[in-house]
Amino acid sequence: MKILTVIGARPQFIKAATISRIISEQYNNVIDEVIVHTGQHYDQNMSEIFFTDMKIPKPKYSLNIGGKSHGEMTGEMLIELEKIMLGENPDMVLVYGDTNSTLAAALTASKLHIPISHIEAGMRAFNKRIPEEINRILTDHVSTYFFCTTDEPANNLRKEGLAENIYVVGDVMYDAVLFYKKIMKPTEKVTNLPADFYLATIHRQENTDDKKNLQEIFAALEEISLQKTVVLPLHPRTRKRLDNFDIIVGNNITILDPVGYFDMLYLLEKASLVLTDSGGLQKEAYYFNKPTVIMRDQTEWVDLTDKGVAQLTGANKNKILTSVEDLAKIYSFPENLYGDGHAAEKIVNILALE
Ligand code: UD1
Ligand code: UDP
Repeated sequence: MKILTVIGARPQFIKAATISRIISEQYNNVIDEVIVHTGQHYDQNMSEIFFTDMKIPKPKYSLNIGGKSHGEMTGEMLIELEKIMLGENPDMVLVYGDTNSTLAAALTASKLHIPISHIEAGMRAFNKRIPEEINRILTDHVSTYFFCTTDEPANNLRKEGLAENIYVVGDVMYDAVLFYKKIMKPTEKVTNLPADFYLATIHRQENTDDKKNLQEIFAALEEISLQKTVVLPLHPRTRKRLDNFDIIVGNNITILDPVGYFDMLYLLEKASLVLTDSGGLQKEAYYFNKPTVIMRDQTEWVDLTDKGVAQLTGANKNKILTSVEDLAKIYSFPENLYGDGHAAEKIVNILALE
């Protein structure tokens, strides 16, 4: 069978790496995978570094559609993806998560009656002001096969009337951590850092595009960094907004350019606590037994907050500071919240039977 995989943003490269590896190692004779890179993320350290380090097969098509508004980006992707899908005539389109690339691929495939498999289906924050919420709801409602991390997203789908082909398989990002942490080669960018630090990332539109939120977060990080080194690999979106809003970043915060996956795994291993608004990093912090301050109002990964290993603070300086103090006391982490580390094998096994 021919599977057309559409990816475009950093977290999708990491998720797709796990599936592509299983296809090429175990299902080479059964599945022909064609990869399309939409170009949503395009800097070397937001894209190519993941293909090289994680040995993701080279995309057959690279669309170079990045750095645009939601509508422009999604619209241009629709136009190009339609041509590719008509030419390739795949048996299935495979999409990940909730980015504009996910939605564009799902919409295109659905109009051409190509079955869609959605990995990380059913995630909900129950807030339609978040662009990812729109992307994931719409993607789910045109998908045929749903691969969920836990029962919670599977039940979200059922509540929305989507009852068939729902598989609870665990998290492919856990597979990635287990596999790549054994072979990671961190660079001096991270190995030269001080021994004890907190790791931070920020890139969510609701934080970066709101001046007050961004100021609050950076004020909190600055205050924390007076006591403890804060290492912040800075997403290009956030860097641009800091410039636009003339927000001066405190000298004590250790700002890095975005790092590759190996460096990120090293940072996660060495950090004593994580502050983030990233979806993926929340879970990875848990995989490394690190407590996490989630600088958002909601999380899709509710198991982390339910079990007390993460806390929601929004973009509120005082809440962030209090949460750091609370979470610094946590040492016990529940096991296997998001599967057994074999999600990708389960998914490919199911796909191969279709
Ligand atoms: C996107 C996803 C978000 C995901 C994030 C992962 C959507 C709606 N959002 O957000 O769900 O969590 O990726 O990181 O799809 N930029 C660069 N170089 C790059 C990439 C981006 O400079 O390689 C800058 C550009 O100014 C661009 C901005 O960052 O306009 C935002 O990029 P975009 O892909 O639109 O959204 P993200 O914030 O990255
Ligand atoms: N990541 C990375 N380098 C960085 C920041 C993040 O490799 O500088 C990885 C991180 O470990 C996780 C993924 O990128 O695997 C998360 O992506 P991101 O936070 O951009 O998006 P989200 O998960 O919020 O959609």
